Amino acid sequence: MRRIWDIGLSPSDITPESVWRARRRFMQGAALAPLALGVPALARAAADAGPMGPLLPATKDSRWPTVEAVNTWKDITTYNNFYEFGTGKGDPAEYAGRMQIKPWTVQIDGAVRKPLTLDIDDLRKLAPLQERVYRLRCVEAWSMVIPWTGYSLSHLLSHVEPTGDAKYVVFTSVLQPKNMPGVSERILDWPYTEGLRMDEAMHPLTLLTFGVYGRELPKQNGAPMRVIIPWKYGFKSGKSLVRIHLQSTPPETSWMRAAPQEYGFYANVNPAVPHPRWSQATERRIGSGLFASRIPTQPFNGYAEAVSGLYQGMDLRRNF
Ligand code: MTE
Repeated sequence: MRRIWDIGLSPSDITPESVWRARRRFMQGAALAPLALGVPALARAAADAGPMGPLLPATKDSRWPTVEAVNTWKDITTYNNFYEFGTGKGDPAEYAGRMQIKPWTVQIDGAVRKPLTLDIDDLRKLAPLQERVYRLRCVEAWSMVIPWTGYSLSHLLSHVEPTGDAKYVVFTSVLQPKNMPGVSERILDWPYTEGLRMDEAMHPLTLLTFGVYGRELPKQNGAPMRVIIPWKYGFKSGKSLVRIHLQSTPPETSWMRAAPQEYGFYANVNPAVPHPRWSQATERRIGSGLFASRIPTQPFNGYAEAVSGLYQGMDLRRNF
């Protein structure tokens, strides 16, 4: 039997109908705004020039090294998922410029002894910034290798002193309906919400992220602050965070509400567990060329040695 991935279609070619319809309506709307039409070409041309934006100095952290070539600035900043700006891969680069990121505060609260609301400048200074090269594996079966800048989320969580009730962490992304053309499409239940178990959030690999390529994060990549959990599918890594909430019960995340049979809470990269509509056994490396072969996906996205202990005794097919 020939399956969809055998004929070279990527899962984004088999978008659910609701999303496809929404995308069409969205494009029709965009067509009414002629000024917006020139922007993608401009954004792409600008990205050709290489890394842009304020510098964000950091020391290199090579605890999880990779020999793989990093993706270009252009790949990383023009091929994005940020559904608040639309479902097309170019939509975030085209529309995210409208997002207001100054001033920006983040609330850290819930099951903590010292709840805090911190300005982004103070958050950046809370721990020394490190550059870490991580693989990002999207649930749509493509991947990139990205040099992120940030520090382990554990620094911030320890700072607010979690109580014994802190079993889960909930990440909430900003919601600015007037500046986010994708929000009116109701593809997800906004604001975008994701979550981790406390031990996952405290793992040193989990990166509170402020930059990419030595620069402050571009808006399409989740400025001014996001989280990156490299052993999980990309959708766990919420962008443009405004709240980090600790609680005793498992949160229901945006993707679980939208399609619980397709997007589980754990979302650990697992080539042995297909998505209900496509295989997760291989991935397409963005930037490797149209005819490059797909590469095998690794359990936990190649970070098994570091994180598999977190799931000892768990059935990873059931807890997908
Ligand atoms: N965060 C928000 N708020 N909204 C989104 O749509 N998409 C997720 C994740 N974080 C998403 C999000 C998905 S599916 C992926 S693959 C990554 O962001 C993509 O990150 P990147 O565009 O920086 O590569």
